[in-house]
Amino acid sequence: MKWRSCAGAALAVVLLASTSSAALADPLAPTGRWSAYSRAAAQTPPMGWNSWNAFTSDLDEDKVMGSAQALVDTGLAAKGYRYVNLDDGWWLKRRESDGRMIARAARFPSAATADGATSFRPLTDRLHGMGLKAGIYSDIGRNSCGQVFTSTFPNQPEGNVAEREVGLYGHVDQDIALYFAEWGFDLIKVDGCGVRGLPSSDKRVKAGEYRAFEPIIDIDSLGRTNIVKVRELYEEVGRALDKHNPDGDFIFSLCLWGSADVRSWGKDVGAMSRTSEDISPTWGRMLHNLDSVSRRALYAHPGTWNDPDMLFVGKGDFGLEHPEAARSHFALWAMVNAPLLIGYDLRKASPALLDILGAREVIALNQDPAGNQAVLTFDSDEVQVFVKTLADGGKAVAVFNRTDAPAEVILTAEQLKFVASADVDLTNLWSGEAQRFKGERKLQLAPRQTLLFRAKGSRRLADGIFLSEQPGAVNPAFDGVITPIADPIIHRAQPPWRGTRGFGERPRYGGWGGAQADRTPFDQELAIAGRAFDTGIGVLGNSRLEVRNAGFRRFTAIVGVDDSAVDKARVVTFQVYGDGKLLARSKPAKWGQAPQDLDVDVSGVKLIELVARTTGQGNADPVTWGDAALRR
Ligand code: GLA
Repeated sequence: MKWRSCAGAALAVVLLASTSSAALADPLAPTGRWSAYSRAAAQTPPMGWNSWNAFTSDLDEDKVMGSAQALVDTGLAAKGYRYVNLDDGWWLKRRESDGRMIARAARFPSAATADGATSFRPLTDRLHGMGLKAGIYSDIGRNSCGQVFTSTFPNQPEGNVAEREVGLYGHVDQDIALYFAEWGFDLIKVDGCGVRGLPSSDKRVKAGEYRAFEPIIDIDSLGRTNIVKVRELYEEVGRALDKHNPDGDFIFSLCLWGSADVRSWGKDVGAMSRTSEDISPTWGRMLHNLDSVSRRALYAHPGTWNDPDMLFVGKGDFGLEHPEAARSHFALWAMVNAPLLIGYDLRKASPALLDILGAREVIALNQDPAGNQAVLTFDSDEVQVFVKTLADGGKAVAVFNRTDAPAEVILTAEQLKFVASADVDLTNLWSGEAQRFKGERKLQLAPRQTLLFRAKGSRRLADGIFLSEQPGAVNPAFDGVITPIADPIIHRAQPPWRGTRGFGERPRYGGWGGAQADRTPFDQELAIAGRAFDTGIGVLGNSRLEVRNAGFRRFTAIVGVDDSAVDKARVVTFQVYGDGKLLARSKPAKWGQAPQDLDVDVSGVKLIELVARTTGQGNADPVTWGDAALRR
């Protein structure tokens, strides 16, 4: 039993360092409860429009209401695009007498009131009357992104130092009550610039323009970021949102650009969470943002989604003169269950643009109720294959050419987890064209093209489903990452706002070593004592996965320490819990020992928990739940 107490002690320390005080003393102890965020109105990825990519902070009532009207008139609203979100630029100031936020009525005439207090209620009433939802924007610090990074853009807050403190810091309850209970908004995007960019050494702070906020985020350094503090600030906003939205009809959108290890904990705190820096309408930045979510399928579930940022379909490299690239951007965002937030001046949208944004079959993939983010089943810097398992048991597959040259891709039945000897039927979702193959099919791709299909075939697992086919139902409640590590496999594009000044982009978003579908936490093949698994869950030791069970009777897996483990002496025990009760445990396992079969009766169990316990301090080595599956 010695290993147990050691693990307990090590993990208690971990918790103090990386999670909130509300967390359990032992993160590996079963709870019998699904812990990922699912309280709010995001059972499928939110869809709508946001002002930023279209107008930056140069927004006004005509632009917003014009785009809202266009959503309705073009039929996009009926297809699911419901949120109309104000981004940076709506605010004028914070009233000094009582701290009330004042809207910029010169730009939003309907917000003007006789007493000068302003109200967005007329605007949200109109949006609601059109069948739409309304979103607003704020910052977790005292000051805004515009003030910190783009102060030359229009509509920056006005007044003295205190009046220009428009962010939530110190006003969380007051502001959330105003925005939701009084003004009637349905969504808030909370940025983080105010806790990042105003150190006492900043020349604007020295000049008395802003109060200092000693940074708790350094986007370039996890080591210099106070992850616990950042998370606590966002959790405080979450509690205020719960309090002021008793009907649960709200969305909490986290905007931390992948910093502060948010790619690991965003799923526990909000309904959508940015995984990278801002998107730009350039191919390289789109790849960067896509890569920041594409290996994070287990960190998104109904109720909480990875957000690679808003759409730039229609602009720059995704303009209609580049239809393949425009369709790729949209198809990929749909496949990874990204929130679909249009960033275009819809008053000027052409029919060709609406054909892309309104493609029913593509939207349906994004909004599929199972909520399974696509899993990468073939990966390279040149071509990728994403496969998404749908609620009806069918598959969607995106075959993506990242390059500027034509590409040939071999799609295999195995990649779809279909039987190689049976027919696979593909329907092209852009053209409607059908084709059939057995085993494999050679596909020709144009530069930057994504072929998008629905696929039907004979499932490899006839009597059930592999866990890696349903990442939406598998939650790494504790993924064993005690010390966050920056993810090295994200496309490094030149940031247009900096060009080639400085060094260029270093790996900096936490998440490396997190739980993975069909590969180890470090992107290696799953293998135990030389036996490889193309299917399974890879996770570090000292981890606990929650698995939703919708009526399956058995859980099966082949478990052991992964061959990639460095520490050959550590002992791992695998435990399976059903609704909080221990159902099965493996024999203690070490590196190089034969894999062990688990076959566990889970009839009637709603929540299965898979725990891998080991000894020692810090990040443990990879363990493998090979072929992990739920069976009838
Ligand atoms: C940050 C966000 C953007 C946008 C701007 C507004 O950069 O990441 O999405 O909201 O701030 O200033």
